[in-house]
Amino acid sequence: MHQFIAGLPKAELHVHLEGTLEPEHCLALAQRNGISLEHKTPESLIRSYDFCDLSSFLKVYYSGIRVLVTEQDFFELAFRYFQRAASDGVVYVEVFFDPQAHTMRGIPFDVIIQGIHRAQCEARTALGLESNLIMCFLRDQSAESASEHLTMSMPFNDWIVGVGLDSDEKNNPPSKFAKVFSDARDQGYQLTMHCDVNQVNTLDHIRECLDLIKVDRIDHGLNCLEDDQLCSALVERGIGLTICPVSNRFVVQSLTSDAIRSLLQKGVKVTVNSDDPAYFRAYINENLMALIDEGGFTKEDIKRLMTNAFEIAWLPGRLKAKYL
Ligand code: ADE
Ligand code: ZN
Repeated sequence: MHQFIAGLPKAELHVHLEGTLEPEHCLALAQRNGISLEHKTPESLIRSYDFCDLSSFLKVYYSGIRVLVTEQDFFELAFRYFQRAASDGVVYVEVFFDPQAHTMRGIPFDVIIQGIHRAQCEARTALGLESNLIMCFLRDQSAESASEHLTMSMPFNDWIVGVGLDSDEKNNPPSKFAKVFSDARDQGYQLTMHCDVNQVNTLDHIRECLDLIKVDRIDHGLNCLEDDQLCSALVERGIGLTICPVSNRFVVQSLTSDAIRSLLQKGVKVTVNSDDPAYFRAYINENLMALIDEGGFTKEDIKRLMTNAFEIAWLPGRLKAKYL
């Protein structure tokens, strides 16, 4: 099974670039940029990755982000992730980045995106890895801040395929961002939003995603299983869910393999992804192996999940055909 998973050409659609910051790299960047960290060794950092819910995870995630300062830092972060992904057999990836988490520390938008874009170009030529970039807005920041970042992104809109919404979901529903997502749509961006598992009002958030924002995809979203009408709407509209099993194990103490199987059986286009692999200590192959080892998934199930990923990828049809 390991060989099958390693050799399978894969697409990943839900990975936060800042969540790929490995502890060794985090410490090296902290030293290079003169930033003091509470933890001084990779082992000590890893011991601090002891999350029990979304907010305990986000605290550690934002603390790590502080070490990213220069264009070269963003290049290295992205290129290292692309190297790992390519060696895991990923052929296409859509990566999220969180510009507000950097601009609020005084890092210019163009420094962030130039570094990431340079890594994408190098990954294409040196590794044969195709990638697209999704700009996420932090939902615990204001809608005005999101709009300002949409404007900042416009000179680089050829480098960005879509916008997403992440961070702390509590009291930050999709409707808060209806205007900026409508503007993003007008600018030609694809739309997705996180509806993390078991959040307060999660079903309302999924409904708003579908009926108000009219998203193209939902990140997580597996609570839709609690409402047959929601599942039917997802199937009818061909809206995919990007699910992250090992992340779920940290955040809701379950790999959610039964839910993933039910979604597959209902015909919802579910995919498997790593979310924040450096923090959850599992890249895409480890997520797939966990479904096999602990969830009883078969090769056929895994192939279906991967076909779903290529089908809902934000790639032009002629490029998609290469993979399907
Ligand atoms: N930002 C980075 N990872 C996230 C996650 N899993 N949920 C919400 N926001 C995030
Ligand atoms: Zn996520």
